[in-house]
Amino acid sequence: MSRPNSGRRPRKADPRAGPADPPLVVGVTGASGAAYAVRLVECAAAAGRRVWLIVSRPGRMVLADEAGMGGSVDAPDLSTLWPAEVLDRVRYVPAEVLDAPPASGSFGAGATVVIPCSMNTLAALAHGLTQNLVHRAAHVALKEGRPLVVVPREMPVTRIDLENMARLAAAGAVVMPAMPAFYHRPRSVADVVDFVVAKVLDRLGVPHDLDVVWPGAQ
Ligand SMILES: Cc1cc2nc3c(=O)[nH]c(=O)nc-3n(C[C@H](O)[C@H](O)[C@H](O)COP(=O)(O)O)c2cc1C
Repeated sequence: MSRPNSGRRPRKADPRAGPADPPLVVGVTGASGAAYAVRLVECAAAAGRRVWLIVSRPGRMVLADEAGMGGSVDAPDLSTLWPAEVLDRVRYVPAEVLDAPPASGSFGAGATVVIPCSMNTLAALAHGLTQNLVHRAAHVALKEGRPLVVVPREMPVTRIDLENMARLAAAGAVVMPAMPAFYHRPRSVADVVDFVVAKVLDRLGVPHDLDVVWPGAQ
């Protein structure tokens, strides 16, 4: 099975990143845009970061549909998405499991990101509902004052969605709708994906070497 970003291998794990770096929490939900999550995890691992990967059931369905994830929705085969050197840094938890470490405020998470974020999960986060582990981990980030980045994907959006984004931004989240620019002159879908992922990594404080800079800025 080919991987969605094959041909664009991440660099080797950054030797400067050690066990002291707090793990990233990456929530993946059932919006289109699974490739964003795949690439973000790949880049975070390449930067030496540990990742707690929490995926909703609809998120697993979209990973299978869009990114070719193998296995089943109940027993996903993550090796069809990432090579072993990435998976070495990833702890996977299905979102239905609520009693995992990221559910606790005392778990020493770094930043939390929900990518892609469905309008369903956006609504839950905006209203403090914690019906699964993605919701709970994001809620914990907000209540503990840790960075929370949310990457909604829907088009068009309703006034309800816009109000939910505004509520989340007011609560301290960084809302980064998946809106790629084209000024870096993408030549492939992977280049478009990299634009969004680079912006998110920047906000998470994860170093990367994705080349998405506007040529006029160089
Ligand atoms: C193929 C497919 C694509 C979808 N794409 C989107 C999307 O882009 N944005 C969105 O908000 N919901 C989308 N949905 C709907 C969500 O999957 C649905 O609202 C689901 O309940 C989200 O659950 P979750 O937030 O727990 O992952 C899509 C559903 C399917 C089956």
